[in-house]
Amino acid sequence: MTSSEELFIGIMSGTSADGVDCGLIDFSEDLPVKIMTRYFPFSQKLQNEILTFSNNHNISIDDIYLLENTLTKSYAKAVISVIKELNISPTRIRAIGCHGQTIRHNPDKGYSIQLVNGSLLAELTNIKAIVDFRSRDIAAGGQGAPLTPAFHGAIFGHENIHRVIVNIGGMANLTNLNPREPVTGFDTGPGNYLLDSYVKVMTGDSFDDKGKWAKSGTVNNALLKKLKQHDFLQQLPPKSCSNEQFNLAWVKSLAPKLIKPIDMQATLLEFTAQSIINAQKRYCPTADEIYVCGGGAKNDFLMERLIDLSGSVLLKKTNVVGIDPDWVEAFAFAWLAKKTLFEEPIDYSNVTGSKGPRILGCIYPC
Ligand SMILES: Nc1ncnc2c1ncn2[C@@H]1O[C@H](COP(=O)(O)OP(=O)(O)O)[C@@H](O)[C@H]1O
Ligand SMILES: [Mg+2]
Repeated sequence: MTSSEELFIGIMSGTSADGVDCGLIDFSEDLPVKIMTRYFPFSQKLQNEILTFSNNHNISIDDIYLLENTLTKSYAKAVISVIKELNISPTRIRAIGCHGQTIRHNPDKGYSIQLVNGSLLAELTNIKAIVDFRSRDIAAGGQGAPLTPAFHGAIFGHENIHRVIVNIGGMANLTNLNPREPVTGFDTGPGNYLLDSYVKVMTGDSFDDKGKWAKSGTVNNALLKKLKQHDFLQQLPPKSCSNEQFNLAWVKSLAPKLIKPIDMQATLLEFTAQSIINAQKRYCPTADEIYVCGGGAKNDFLMERLIDLSGSVLLKKTNVVGIDPDWVEAFAFAWLAKKTLFEEPIDYSNVTGSKGPRILGCIYPC
């Protein structure tokens, strides 16, 4: 850390509801420098609660706010443990950018809900908390998602090479970095969510380690064809999705009664891989390189299928272009917090469809 340090903390917890990604980043150089990154998994109980809230439309307002406080305490705990481990004062951190936990995403109805209590986060950490990044974009007519393409453009863009960044979280999103065009990006459909949900129901595990279970099955082509007809996949960008569009109830409504569980998992993985690469081929046909980040990059079989489907286009993980795939999103929310703090608008009109440049986020002073 230098004397001109610009320290921000980025916190991401996505629709997979697996845990908290926390990164302390220094933005004083041209490229962001990782000071420390840590992952704090949610307890099984908290994960189940988040997933129930995301799928259940009959929950009480009190329960929502209680869950928000529980989540906020886990974000604060992550921050405190990082600064304690480094033995630095909270006053050195300019701000925390915290995405919060999405429990609803309905931009077409004018809202997207990420649970995080900014006041409590600032109170518990003694650091300025910046939250609620999506609402302003939605207020300006955008989808409120994906928000990471602006960061991808700033960090991974190349003056001659056409790159595509694919983030595979609960849902998957793609950023198109064509040097001859403005940055664009959109959600491609499911990421890990369907894979995780089915494994959880069938085995009780939170995810299919390295995709081994899916690899042992055979794709059911009739089901795959039906899954690929989902309306969302036919829609033109700007578009964003959540588990309200892609969930097991929808899969089961299309699946044959007697499909073997391993074949179901194999089919869901193939569907996920094809929905990503088909989107890339359709909207970024001249891409030279594809870089993958998010937890899906740890699913070896998914990566194998993506490499195979991408054909002659190079497909690797983002560590090759400077950021470990596990931390790209945490970096992005630290970067977004910096943009908010310095009141720098970001133009998402080619990504989310918003009307024009806006300053996103809401600041809770410490
Ligand atoms: N070893 C692994 N094998 C397969 N999948 C994995 C592995 N490790 C993590 N994942 C997947 O990554 C997900 C978490 O990814 P993440 O990028 O944090 O998603 P989100 O942004 O939705 O929280 C897990 O739920 C799981 O599906
Ligand atoms: Mg996660």
